[in-house]
Amino acid sequence: MIIAIDGPAASGKGTLARRIAAHFGLRHLDTGLTYRAVAAALLARGLPLGDEAVAVATARNLDLAHLDRDVLSAHEIGEAASRIAVLPGLRQELVRLQRAFAMEPPGAVLDGRDIGTVVCPDATVKLFCTASAQERARRRTAELQSKGVEATLETVQADLERRDARDAARTVGPLKLADDAHLLDTSEMDIETAFKAAVDIVDNVYAR
Ligand code: C5P
Repeated sequence: MIIAIDGPAASGKGTLARRIAAHFGLRHLDTGLTYRAVAAALLARGLPLGDEAVAVATARNLDLAHLDRDVLSAHEIGEAASRIAVLPGLRQELVRLQRAFAMEPPGAVLDGRDIGTVVCPDATVKLFCTASAQERARRRTAELQSKGVEATLETVQADLERRDARDAARTVGPLKLADDAHLLDTSEMDIETAFKAAVDIVDNVYAR
C-alpha cells in the first residue's frame, strides 16, 4: 500500500501524511527533507548550489533514517532546496532513494511535489493537498512566530508564492495534479477535518 500526498508549501500535507501513516500503520517519508538535507550539506560545506555532479554525489551519501526535521526546517535551507530541486540528475538520484523506501513492506506514505506523478505513479491512493495562498501564508506565519522567529504575513506569502512558482515551472518533476489524484482543498478545514476527509478518501478507494 502506497499513499502519495502532493501539494504546495505549507498546504498541510506534511502533518496530514504523518497522521495518515500512523492511522494505517505505514512508514512515512517527507521527501522535502531529502532535498533539504542535500541543500543543507552543500551550504554547510560552502559548495555551489548549481553544480549537479556535487549535488548528486551528496545525495548518494544520504541516510533516510537520519533526516533531522528541526534542523532542516530552517528557512534558508528550504530556499536552497527549492533551488537545487531543478537539477534533473539530483532528482533522479533522490527519486531512486524515495522509490526504494516506498517499496519496502508494508508500504508507506510519501509526501512531496511529484510523488503521484513521478516517484510512485502506481500509488494505491493519490491525494493532492492544497489551500489558498493567503491561508497557507497565515499558517506558516503562525508556525514561525510560535517558534520565536520574526515573520510578517506579507513576506511569508511572497516567499511561498516565489517557491510555488519555481516548483511549478521546472521541467523535471514539477508540482502538478496527477490525473488520478483526489484534490483536498484544506483552506476552510482544520487539521482534524482534513485528516478525516483524507481517511475517507483512502477508505473509499479500498472499498471499491
Ligand atoms: O516540502 P518542503 O518545503 O520541505 O520542500 C522543500 C523544497 O524541495 C520544495 O520547495 C521543492 O522545491 C523541493 N521538493 C521537490 N520535490 C519533492 C519534495 C520537495 O522538488 N518531492
